[in-house]
Amino acid sequence: MPLVHTFSSIPATHLPSLIAVSPKAELHVHIEGTLEPEMACALAERNGVALPYADPAGMRQAMNFRCLQDFLNLYYTATAVLRTEQDFYDLAQAYLQRAAADRVVRAEIFFDPQAHLARGVRLETVLAGLSQAIARSETDHGVSAALLMSFLRDRPVAEAHELLDAVLPFRETIIGVGLDSAEAGHPPELFADVFARARSAGLHVVAHAGEEGPPSSITNALDTLYAERVDHGVRCLEDVSLVQRLARQRIPLTVCPLSNVRLQVAPSLAAHPLPRMLAAGLKVSVHSDDPAYFGGYLNHTLTASAEAMSLTSHDLYVLLRNSLESTFLEPAAIASHVAKLDRCFAEAAGG
Ligand code: HPA
Ligand code: ZN
Repeated sequence: MPLVHTFSSIPATHLPSLIAVSPKAELHVHIEGTLEPEMACALAERNGVALPYADPAGMRQAMNFRCLQDFLNLYYTATAVLRTEQDFYDLAQAYLQRAAADRVVRAEIFFDPQAHLARGVRLETVLAGLSQAIARSETDHGVSAALLMSFLRDRPVAEAHELLDAVLPFRETIIGVGLDSAEAGHPPELFADVFARARSAGLHVVAHAGEEGPPSSITNALDTLYAERVDHGVRCLEDVSLVQRLARQRIPLTVCPLSNVRLQVAPSLAAHPLPRMLAAGLKVSVHSDDPAYFGGYLNHTLTASAEAMSLTSHDLYVLLRNSLESTFLEPAAIASHVAKLDRCFAEAAGG
C-alpha cells in the first residue's frame, strides 16, 4: 500500500505527538517577531531604552490588533530595544533554541534591517549578531538556519536600493531577500528593479503578498519580482485562475494561521482558508510569522491549526513535506529530511 494511504490510520488524537517528533522547516518567521515581552523588557533595561510598557504583562496587553498596521506599530516600537551585536545574537539564539525544541530542522529567517538602521544601529551590527547565532545553530541546536533580508515596502524604493548596496559586501551572510511590512498601497511591482538586482547577485527572492493585499499583489510578486515563494498568499482564493496557476506551477505559499487570525485576515482558526488551499492542490506549508505576538511557535501553530480545522494525518503530512520541499536547501538534504518525515509517519501508523 502506498505510504500516504497508511497515514489515514493515524487517529487525530495522535497528531500532537506526531507533530512534536516530525522534522519540519520554518520558512516564515521574522526574527524581530520572536522578541518575547520578557526579553524586550530586559533589553530595554540593559540598553537604557524607554518602552511604553511597565512590564511584560503590559506589553502583552497591548497585543490587540485590528489589522496588520496595528501590529506593525507595536512590533516597530518593541524592536527599538535591539541595539548591540549581543542583542541580535541573544534574540536569534533564543529563537533557535525554541526551534530545536519544535524539531525544526531548517529555519529560513527574515530580518528587517531598515527598522534598525532608522534608529542608528549599523547593518554590520545586526548582521554580526544574527549570523554568529546562525553559524553555531547546526552544532548547538541541530537546526540549519539562514537569513532572508526583508525590504520594508512602506519605505522608499531608493532606500531598498541603498540597503542592497550596503549588504552586498556581506553577500555571504544572507541567502535571499523578502518584502514585508504594510501591504496596502505598496504593491510588489514598485520593487521590481531592486529585486532584479538581488537576483543577479545570486540571491533567492520571496515576497509577502495576498495577506491584506489583493490577488493582483500575488500575481505581481510572481511576474515582476519573480518570487520563488509567496509569504501568506491566502487571498489567492479570491481569484480562481490565480489558484490554478499557483497549483500548476507548484509555487510555495507560506501560510501563518495564527497570524491571520490575530490580524483579522481570517475570522477564526476554524474558518481559516488553509483546508481550502490544501483541497485546491496548492503547495502550502504552515509557519509562525511573529510568534511572540501571535500566540505561539511552530508546533503550537500546527497543533492548534490541526485541531481547529480538523486536519487529517494526510493533510499534516502534506504540510510538513511541503515545508521541507519549499526550503532553499540542496535536493539531497531535502530528500534526507523527507525520508525522516516518512519514517515518523510510518511509525505512527504502526508500520
Ligand atoms: N506581514 C507583513 N510584514 C510583517 C509581518 C507580517 O505578518 N511581520 C513582520 N513584518
Ligand atoms: Zn510575515
